[in-house]
Amino acid sequence: MADITFASPLLPKNKTVYGIAGDTHTLLAVARDHRIPVPFNCEDGDCGSCLIKVTVLDGKQPMGSTLSEKEKFTLAAHGKLSKEAKELAEIADIPPQYRLACQYIVRDEPILVEFSGEPGVEIDPARHKHERAALNDIETTGAEDREYAESVKA
Ligand code: FES
Repeated sequence: MADITFASPLLPKNKTVYGIAGDTHTLLAVARDHRIPVPFNCEDGDCGSCLIKVTVLDGKQPMGSTLSEKEKFTLAAHGKLSKEAKELAEIADIPPQYRLACQYIVRDEPILVEFSGEPGVEIDPARHKHERAALNDIETTGAEDREYAESVKA
């Protein structure tokens, strides 16, 4: 179980939602459930519209996740998967920072998900530096989601 914080110029402030362990929905599905406007089109790893930048927030090594050949191809076609990053993913199981939200399955680790709001366009870190600095000013819906998860389990 982990918090997922979304940051984008499209959001008035960063928004954190609660990721439920064992949930095999994609990050795009989680975003849509919470009305977070991550762009998308094909929902199948082909178009690159849902390009996101993922940063693990607990300081640990990102959990491994197998990238499909389709995701690797699309990321590379958008210039977001270098040869080195591809080798790290394939050999050391270290995922690249840029991913496709429609292919990314949420793991049990707190993450920051940044997106520009423009299909297939990476977030500009310099332009949106204030977004990251605002992490302490997060709109949190996680508490509500935790209560719901607990009530469902009971
Ligand atoms: S929506 Fe097309 S690659 Fe994700």
